[in-house]
Amino acid sequence: MYSLIRTALFTQDPEKAHDLTINWLKHTQHTPLKLTYCQHVNDKPVECLGLTFPNPVGLAAGLDKNGECIDAFAAMGFGFIEIGTVTPKAQPGNDKPRMFRLPQKQAIINRMGFNNKGVDYLVEQVKQSRYQGVLGINIGKNKITPEQQALDDYLICLDKVFEHASYVTVNISSPNTPGLRNLQYGEALDNLLDGLKQRQHSLSQQHNKHTPLLIKIAPDLSPEEIQSIAASLNKAQVDGVIATNTTLDRSAVQGLAHADEAGGLSGSVLRDKSLSVTRQLREALGEGMPIIGVGGIDSATAAKTRMTAGANLVQVYTPFIYQGPALIKRIVNGL
Ligand SMILES: Cc1cc2nc3c(=O)[nH]c(=O)nc-3n(C[C@H](O)[C@H](O)[C@H](O)COP(=O)(O)O)c2cc1C
Repeated sequence: MYSLIRTALFTQDPEKAHDLTINWLKHTQHTPLKLTYCQHVNDKPVECLGLTFPNPVGLAAGLDKNGECIDAFAAMGFGFIEIGTVTPKAQPGNDKPRMFRLPQKQAIINRMGFNNKGVDYLVEQVKQSRYQGVLGINIGKNKITPEQQALDDYLICLDKVFEHASYVTVNISSPNTPGLRNLQYGEALDNLLDGLKQRQHSLSQQHNKHTPLLIKIAPDLSPEEIQSIAASLNKAQVDGVIATNTTLDRSAVQGLAHADEAGGLSGSVLRDKSLSVTRQLREALGEGMPIIGVGGIDSATAAKTRMTAGANLVQVYTPFIYQGPALIKRIVNGL
């Protein structure tokens, strides 16, 4: 079924196909038409971050940036759903075209630039959804906010999403917001984590609820940088880490159409890089801190390998675009 839909969607421009799909899911998720994508996925529960996940396969951030289709993705059987990246104010993102398929490698390059309708709109969507499962909300900064004031943007979002999220992801690894990845290093990271942890503490008391804070990192990091990030995460006692976002490295797609487009590359070609970051992180972090592995997880084998390397949970985006909802079942049943 999905391969037919995919054939039709792949005749369209990638972003057009994405918008059509989101629109369809949004308008059908509370109607009998949801039966066209609803599926039963066996339970394979995981306890992590103080939460119970019915299975360890989640939807990665960026597909449902505004949280408009939460119930649709829940109906497909995801063990958890991450929405966003959302910013304090709505913003249009980069100029189009900004999303490209590289079908020979089942890959995508995107430079969306956090196009989203703003945090207030997203919170409204969450309130309207019927989903009772694990919901991650991924937060970012507006493009016009100077790098030095990034913390303010993250705090605005954290304040607004805290009570509605099962966990909050702090995205400091998108390659498409100038300067964002600089927040991954040294003092900038320590200051950011410090500010976020303090606010998490006060919000926990205010709402009488602990919402775990996770940091999402890039795959383009040297072993020394990974060590240094791990030390900062441990020091700040962050609740968890998501590894990884998209890569700037094009070596795996050289010569293919669109390979030289600016932006982040994702899909199977990212798998080994993300795996390596996960493995190094686990070694540097020790056993305690949860890792969500993401990047090229396109099969049960890839998911198992990621979990053996130290991931407690996994997420999918690009392989889900190429394989459809059956991928969730394929992974869960093969674990
Ligand atoms: C079109 C597109 C948009 C994305 N937008 C976001 C985003 O807004 N926030 C984020 O943290 N990650 C975003 N990502 C990164 C994914 O969440 C994921 O980390 C990355 O694509 C690697 O996983 P994959 O190989 O399963 O796609 C985006 C990825 C794609 C392909």
